[in-house]
Amino acid sequence: MRLGGEWTRSIRPIEDRSAIEIIDQTLLPWRVCWIRLAGLEEAAEAISTMRVRGAPLIGAVGAFGLALSLRADPSDDALDEAAERLIATRPTAVNLAWAVARVVRAVRNLPRGDRFEAAWAEASAIADEDALCCEAIGHHGLPLIAGISQRKGGSPVNILTHCNAGWLATVDWGTATAPIYRAHDAGIPVHVWVDETRPRNQGALLTAFELAGHGVPHTVVADNAGGHLMRRGEVDLVLVGTDRVARNGDVANKIGTYLKALAAADNGVPFWVALPHSTIDWSLASGELIPIEERSPAEVTELAGLAEDGGVRRVRVASPGSRAANPAFDITPARLVSGLITERGRCPASEAGLLSLYPDKA
Ligand code: MRU
Repeated sequence: MRLGGEWTRSIRPIEDRSAIEIIDQTLLPWRVCWIRLAGLEEAAEAISTMRVRGAPLIGAVGAFGLALSLRADPSDDALDEAAERLIATRPTAVNLAWAVARVVRAVRNLPRGDRFEAAWAEASAIADEDALCCEAIGHHGLPLIAGISQRKGGSPVNILTHCNAGWLATVDWGTATAPIYRAHDAGIPVHVWVDETRPRNQGALLTAFELAGHGVPHTVVADNAGGHLMRRGEVDLVLVGTDRVARNGDVANKIGTYLKALAAADNGVPFWVALPHSTIDWSLASGELIPIEERSPAEVTELAGLAEDGGVRRVRVASPGSRAANPAFDITPARLVSGLITERGRCPASEAGLLSLYPDKA
């Protein structure tokens, strides 16, 4: 990922293994502030308050959080409690439970004295693999964009994306953004419609920040603009990430994704979903079984923004006294998904499609 002209990752393990550093995403794009997470509670707080967010990134931070907790207390009880505490912070993105379970498996049968080292090594492997997966997603997604570009005779490919499925949501590259960065770097003209993504505005704040940093032309639009743009033929491709894919290809992603898929289907716009294998929940037969996180109503009734004096302020944007609801994700049925882009290639959004790439899961 490119940050201030330099390549870095969204998570930086400290060399003496006393902590990790993450960018506090609640301060972006106004301030790039790296903060240290040195233990279980700091990691859990960073995930639940969304200082770090995005399915693959919370998986990697959860894994390091568990390792750091074992540094303080490597006992069996502490291991189980820490794993439970971390998994409970955000229930929809399966990457978190997947990564924590992977660290637990790596250390469970080891003597206490060896657990921290092994957990740290496993967390590092999870982070490294995520970066490689996302890079490969870019490789496999590129032909989609290149094909559209060719059909359009080289005029810019208009891609609509929702939420932030970029490097800020992963360890590097991003999922949905990886093919976009690749295309841009390959000289294919692209333009990205960035859904603002209420209530937390991950699109307007984070995706726009990322694309600007990489020099990718983009335009932020209100969430409700997508259908209109698609009807006018101004969207060639919808490309989003996901927090959990069920065995049948149903996709959980940021609230509002389903509406974009409906509009895309009605207008014949391809709707593709990019994900690493860690986002597939092989244990769930369909998306109806995916738990949907319900977040604080304050995220709907209030907004944070940059005031004219340079300070970051919260303001109320809903009528005082009204109740608000805040389901954070929705399910897009597989029938509305043109296909999935994974680190192993592209496939139809179906059990057969997924198994064609991951035959070991049959
Ligand atoms: O609530 P968030 O910001 O963690 O939600 C993130 C998303 O919905 C992303 O689209 C998803 O995690 C895919 S990330 C590569």
